[in-house]
Amino acid sequence: MDNLNNSLNHPINEEINRLSSIDSPPKNEPVNTFRNSSHEGEFTSKFRIENPKLSVQSLRAWFNGKLALKDINLEVKEKRVTALIGPSGCGKTTLLRCINRMHDLTPNATAEGKILLDDFDIYDKQSDPVLIRRRMGMVFQKPNPFPTMSIFDNVAAGLKLNGVKDKTLIKEIVYDSLQGAALWNEVKNDLDKPGISLSGGQQQRLCIARALAMQPEILLMDEPTSALDPIASSKIEELMTELKKHLTVIIVTHNMQQAARVSDYTAFMYLGELIEFGPTDQLFKYPKKELTERYISGKFG
Ligand SMILES: Nc1ncnc2c1ncn2[C@@H]1O[C@H](COP(=O)(O)OP(=O)(O)OP(=O)(O)O)[C@@H](O)[C@H]1O
Ligand SMILES: [Mg+2]
Repeated sequence: MDNLNNSLNHPINEEINRLSSIDSPPKNEPVNTFRNSSHEGEFTSKFRIENPKLSVQSLRAWFNGKLALKDINLEVKEKRVTALIGPSGCGKTTLLRCINRMHDLTPNATAEGKILLDDFDIYDKQSDPVLIRRRMGMVFQKPNPFPTMSIFDNVAAGLKLNGVKDKTLIKEIVYDSLQGAALWNEVKNDLDKPGISLSGGQQQRLCIARALAMQPEILLMDEPTSALDPIASSKIEELMTELKKHLTVIIVTHNMQQAARVSDYTAFMYLGELIEFGPTDQLFKYPKKELTERYISGKFG
């Protein structure tokens, strides 16, 4: 942050100062709650998606009373890839975790606003976080297969946990998911081997297969290739193009080239705010905000 401030002089400093000021947390806020806000903020991005699959409205999130997301408004197009970019600590992971209600699981974490999945408010009192997470798969930065399970069982685990007992059906879904994750050809003769015996890139595709087995509508990927070599990364990138034929993908990435290659829409975040959102080619070629331009051209990170 200091380096950033030093490297920036002129009007943009004002923007940064504005963004840096931490709003007061709500007083007497109960922990681990998410309340609907009547305050419908103006869309920061000014860019709207028609019939979005997911609509984040006036979302704010706190950790221990400290604001981490400030009035985020973002719409996600169905069967497209949306990339979240921005420097470390700007709130990308927090936004993903709010979207699938994992934020609820963090002690002393609160949020307010609205997140609509189709027309369904995922923070409605009636909504079941477990069902929400089933509709939205998540893949993390570090591949995390279940260490004691075989390749097959890693993919089947969620189904079994959800009470699916039909062995033929489980087998069918496991095979389909491994194919969907572009891993089938590499593992079809080794399904009984431990998941952790695979390479890092294969393990990450195994985790994608595990997520696909639950037949999610949205796949949330938090820096899925940052721990992988370029070849393994490019396999995951190719896979994303296939995946979006069937589902909606939101990917967090620090890699500008990757965002430009794989995504249809890009959202640039900075210090908890959504600074700019739009079609990826436009955002990269003609950024509307100077802060976006500076970030994508590598002037800070
Ligand atoms: N469990 C937590 N407890 C307290 N503060 C947290 C927690 N998780 C995140 N934060 C804070 O919230 C802000 C946003 O963090 P977040 O992890 O969402 O950033 P990020 O954009 O994903 O960063 P990175 O690119 O480094 O992964 C940061 O200031 C961070 O310190
Ligand atoms: Mg993160």
